[in-house]
Amino acid sequence: MINNSRSRATLPIGVFDSGIGGLTVLRALRTHMPNEQFIYLGDTARLPYGSKSPKTIQQYAIQAATFLVNRGIKCLVVACNTASAVALPLLQQQFQSIPVIGVVKPGAAAGCETSITGKIAVIATESTVQGGAYQQAIKQIRNDAYVVARACPLFVALAEEGWTTGPIVEEIAHRYLDDLFATSDPPDTLLLGCTHFPVLRQSLRNVVGESIHLVDSAQTTASALQKLLDSAQLITPSVIVGSTVFMATDGAERFARVAAHFLDQHLSGADVELVEPTFVKQ
Ligand code: DGL
Repeated sequence: MINNSRSRATLPIGVFDSGIGGLTVLRALRTHMPNEQFIYLGDTARLPYGSKSPKTIQQYAIQAATFLVNRGIKCLVVACNTASAVALPLLQQQFQSIPVIGVVKPGAAAGCETSITGKIAVIATESTVQGGAYQQAIKQIRNDAYVVARACPLFVALAEEGWTTGPIVEEIAHRYLDDLFATSDPPDTLLLGCTHFPVLRQSLRNVVGESIHLVDSAQTTASALQKLLDSAQLITPSVIVGSTVFMATDGAERFARVAAHFLDQHLSGADVELVEPTFVKQ
């Protein structure tokens, strides 16, 4: 039993996102757990998930998770907020042999911990906002919380384009956020409920002002995963040197180029393995 869990501990951690934005989560995971091996899968052929129906997102998430589980992983991190919001219970039910964690609960926990007034604004994709997962997760942790949620789909395109600062980004941020924050009693916390939004942090800060706390789920997800692996005796032996395999379902060159905005590592197209978008036969 001990040997079995020792050998499982040396398996990689699977990280899945709809595309490139989940690299913000991977970055935090690698910082927290530098000895671990990671397999990162970005479903770039089918991005964005955030404007798709729950049924489609669930189908994509199951396919991606099946692919990673078949490669041999010790746990799965659903780095995509939209997939976490819409498909996490389904994934946990389907893959009971490994721990499966998402980013919504850790993000909600970070927001609740940071907010003093309990007024929290969540920005995310359309599907995440409509599904209400962040709103519910926050209320479960802090039932006195007042949550407002706003879909900001253009932020995903801006981040993908590498337009993270400047007047165009700030103008769009004003259009999305002014009515939430230009009130007499605004939220004190802005929760970035999408993988892509942390790279827009400076522009968001300029728009909402210095007094608002900006929170994302990357750090809290990394801490939550570390605790979970620890309690399951799945932390890799520290003699192992950490590494990451990058996989995408389309556009290896583009993945490598855009990754520079999200990751503290230079990648070339040759570093990204292309895999079939449909992964498994339906
Ligand atoms: N990864 C998605 C999320 O965190 C954003 C991009 C998409 O819509 O697929 O919600």
